[in-house]
Amino acid sequence: MNRPIRVLIAKPGLDGHDRGALVVAQGLRDEGLEVIYTGLRQTVEQIIATAIQEDVDCIGLSSLSGAHMTLFPAVVEGLQERGIDDMLIIGGGVIPPEDVLELKKRGLAEVFTPGSTIGEMADFIRNNVLNKGELSFFEPPSQVDHIGIAVADLEQTLAFYRDHLGFSVVHEEDIPDQKVHAVFLQAGELHIELLLSTSDEGPIGKFVASKGPGIHHIAYRVDDVAAWLERSRLAGHRLIDESPRPGGQNKWIGFIHPKSSHGVLTEYCQITDKE
Ligand code: CO
Repeated sequence: MNRPIRVLIAKPGLDGHDRGALVVAQGLRDEGLEVIYTGLRQTVEQIIATAIQEDVDCIGLSSLSGAHMTLFPAVVEGLQERGIDDMLIIGGGVIPPEDVLELKKRGLAEVFTPGSTIGEMADFIRNNVLNKGELSFFEPPSQVDHIGIAVADLEQTLAFYRDHLGFSVVHEEDIPDQKVHAVFLQAGELHIELLLSTSDEGPIGKFVASKGPGIHHIAYRVDDVAAWLERSRLAGHRLIDESPRPGGQNKWIGFIHPKSSHGVLTEYCQITDKE
């Protein structure tokens, strides 16, 4: 399964100011990256050891001491000596343009100077981490788990799906959390989930009031909802659920906003052992 990109923020050398490094570390966390911060006054050897131990994808070196021209390339060289060539190395600090050019010649992928935004750094890291193969390894959803249909009148809707089409009702329950009564019909390998609102204030109540009854969402069966929400977050999707929550039939579910899935409200859904 995919995992978040891991970044080591390191402060080599003697400079004793780490406010900037801390702001970057927190900012990158907010962007969904996993960030380890070494603390102040690290030697090049300590930084390399931590990077290897933590198996990071990227090292962000910060320096305000003016020693960047020796310390930053020393990290690159130290990694090379150990045969490690798949870590993205970036730098940041008050660094003059001529030094930026030289540092890039000596193996830094990018150097961020004051005025660079956290968003720019996060995008650069996401686009340039070198072991993308591993990061993007994932199992696609195994199938459509169910199609959620918002209904205005349950009996009339059942007259179509159950009586006319002939699908059998396999499960029925109230999901108070979502203010719905859900009825599941078996349609081959997947379920049709009829959703009757139990409150005008609930999401289905509002949906029916504004759009009328009809297709509400499509749910894909995945093996790890949390990992899929994370994958979506890293892709810049707008999440409705930050973390998995219990859905009908003892499943874990998580929604992403239809704006991020081309107009279709999309649910990730994971079957649990309890079912
Ligand atoms: Co659903």
